Amino acid sequence: MMRTTVIIGEALVDDFGTEQIVGGAPFNVARNLAAFMAPQLMVTRIGDDRNGAVVRAEFERFAMSSAGLQQDAMEETGRVVVERAPGGHRFVIVPNQAYDFIATPEALAAVAAVEVGAVYFGTLAQRSERSRATLFAVLEATDATRYLDLNLRGNQVDEQCVTRSLRAANIVKVNEEELQALFQWYFQIKPTDPALTADEVRASCRALMQMFALDALIVTLGHRGSVYFGRDLEQPIVHRDNPAPPFVIDTVGAGDAFSAIFLLGRMRGWPLETTLARANEFAGAICAIPGAIPQDMGFYDKWMTRWR
Ligand SMILES: Nc1ncnc2c1ncn2[C@@H]1O[C@H](COP(=O)(O)OP(=O)(O)OP(=O)(O)O)[C@@H](O)[C@H]1O
Ligand SMILES: [Mg+2]
Repeated sequence: MMRTTVIIGEALVDDFGTEQIVGGAPFNVARNLAAFMAPQLMVTRIGDDRNGAVVRAEFERFAMSSAGLQQDAMEETGRVVVERAPGGHRFVIVPNQAYDFIATPEALAAVAAVEVGAVYFGTLAQRSERSRATLFAVLEATDATRYLDLNLRGNQVDEQCVTRSLRAANIVKVNEEELQALFQWYFQIKPTDPALTADEVRASCRALMQMFALDALIVTLGHRGSVYFGRDLEQPIVHRDNPAPPFVIDTVGAGDAFSAIFLLGRMRGWPLETTLARANEFAGAICAIPGAIPQDMGFYDKWMTRWR
């Protein structure tokens, strides 16, 4: 029996004004896992409103258990307001949303009902005291592997939150900008300093792993693939030559897709190399569809067949 991956954090709606797209990094990971029939438990909180109904409909579309789905009577469902501006998008991450109020007793009860194989968490939902306390209570309640996708967004979280998260994690995934932020905070290496050599970057990654006693550190590099540092590996595993997606529509959710397949591979017991190759390839394919999650569930069929 495959153990359950617990995913805790925000489920929200990206509000384009004319269009509402369901998102939230944790909810993207959970939906991808659900699509591959991997046991998962999404722990989040929504409001009693239209956007909440839209999120709930996604739980249904992906046949996900709602045991970890809490509903708040007062707070509204999480929203990120996306304003189309010349030369790109502007995001306003709305404060005080239902996902800031994930209640501890309900979360613990939902988690107690499953056999936890891993816990996925990020930092955004930790901006509030309530959800942060719930996350750490869930982490306390299990000794399963803790996977952290740092996903720093705007100025929602501070160095203290990041430090606490890194301490709590076993496996950490960052992108290049996030790695740079960590180097700056912990090693006083500024982006304006002369560029580090490849060896210096590797040594700094190793130092980060030691500092926070990590089993693994994954750095994703956009179209350039990913680098995996393992505590027990002499050399990092580098994936640079992924089959390129036929075209790129947007890279929204690429990191979340990567994390989902990484966790899937661990659950299924795939060799690490295979897991990383598949995570890269699948994340690339997500760049060839609009948004983070396919509208058409048929998208997943090809991957399921190939990976069977
Ligand atoms: N343009 C691209 N072409 C091909 N693959 C890509 C591209 N962008 C991202 N990927 C794939 O997705 C993975 C994660 O991308 P990236 O490093 O951008 O993560 P991220 O910044 O965390 O993303 P997110 O916006 O979801 O947080 C990469 O390691 C790669 O496998
Ligand atoms: Mg990311």
